[in-house]
Amino acid sequence: MSKPLEGIKIIDFTHVQAGPACTQLLAWFGADVIKVERPGSGDVTRSQLRDIPDADALYFTMLNSNKRSLTLDTKTQEGKEVLEKLVRESDVLVENFGPGALDRMGFSWERLNELNPKLIMASVKGFSDGHHYDDLKVYENVAQCAGGAASTTGFWDGPPTVSAAALGDSNTGMHLAIGILTAIIGRGQTGRGQKVAVSMQDSVINLCRVKLRDQQRLDRVGYLEEYPQYPHGEFSDVVPRGGNAGGGGQPGWVLKCKGWETDPNAYIYFTIQGHAWEPICRALGKPEWISDPNYATAQARQPHIFDIFATIEAWLADKTKYEAVDILRKFDIPCAPVLSMKEIANDPSLRASGTIVEVPHKERGSYLTVGSPIKFSGLKPEITGSPLLGEHTDEILAELGYSKDQIANLHTSRSV
Ligand code: COA
Repeated sequence: MSKPLEGIKIIDFTHVQAGPACTQLLAWFGADVIKVERPGSGDVTRSQLRDIPDADALYFTMLNSNKRSLTLDTKTQEGKEVLEKLVRESDVLVENFGPGALDRMGFSWERLNELNPKLIMASVKGFSDGHHYDDLKVYENVAQCAGGAASTTGFWDGPPTVSAAALGDSNTGMHLAIGILTAIIGRGQTGRGQKVAVSMQDSVINLCRVKLRDQQRLDRVGYLEEYPQYPHGEFSDVVPRGGNAGGGGQPGWVLKCKGWETDPNAYIYFTIQGHAWEPICRALGKPEWISDPNYATAQARQPHIFDIFATIEAWLADKTKYEAVDILRKFDIPCAPVLSMKEIANDPSLRASGTIVEVPHKERGSYLTVGSPIKFSGLKPEITGSPLLGEHTDEILAELGYSKDQIANLHTSRSV
């Protein structure tokens, strides 16, 4: 099966998570992604949080599948020459160094554009160019705090809280991938490359769009009816943390199921969607709520929402989360079990769909990773293991036209 991005050559000058997540996605879809890494050490995640001594850590292997690895010291003259050759032959260069690092290396956007006017340069930074924090280095949780996620996550009586989901890192990488694909289409129209820049703060803000909605509603009316604080608590002038409240028009909460006393994940998420109210009342043995004016409409229910959830929890007390969902799905109620990572790792549906895949690795044996969350009718991404450090150095140098002797000299000078 041919892959849509076949023939697109990408210099992957990325490290840690935000950049690698982007280039990994493009590699799954057929791009030739050449990961450029410093000789000797490589991407810092190769050795971070190791579970097997001396083998590449899962942090690296799960973000760098389907790539080739070229070691290159881009601070030596010889190394710079190799990179220049690569730039002339590539379609995209992706980087997520700290602010100014690429310029200091001698590869500013202007220089890259001069070397190859068709090249697309794609960058991740913590903050966008010109922002008053644009000199800062940034990691995941910093971005979640700067992007509005932390101030709006958690419980109202606790501190700002970060999400386990990589809103700052992988999410920014996904935004960058969209930018790169757009620039590739743009290049087809103009014949020219361009610089694509995505900041981690902006990418988090983009996902916190509904919280900016809530800020404006709060400014106007002074309360937010779907938050647990309404109508019994206090609202200040900023969007509060709403615990597990549903973010849209449907009230919802995380509810205890059988076994919650000992199992930290014996819960379901339960959503009260308007049309399902009648069947919910019947399922709970509360048919009188159907016509009771205190319960009949979403607005009327809001002041009693926690009493309603308590009644549902009483109903759930003798049901496991799976049994509960199996009953509730028949009533068309949007709900799901709270799944642990162990359950996700072993879920047969996720294995069958290719979302969780087991891939071979030369040093580690096989390991689990997350495959493509995007499914196509005409493409089944095949996830391969991540490359060893410098595994493809000689192969890539030969493709660039270096002879065996020249390659040997590059090794001797420690430029590769
Ligand atoms: N050969 C020679 N030098 C190399 C090299 C190579 N192949 N690859 C990287 N380097 C150098 C860089 O040129 C830079 O040198 P300089 O600072 O002397 O100019 C140096 O390595 C360090 O780069 P930097 O990216 O600043 O690393 P860091 O470990 O200090 O910071 C981050 C890490 C993630 C905080 C920082 O890269 C950053 O803020 N990136 C942008 C935002 C981002 O993507 N963050 C999250 C990632 S999950």
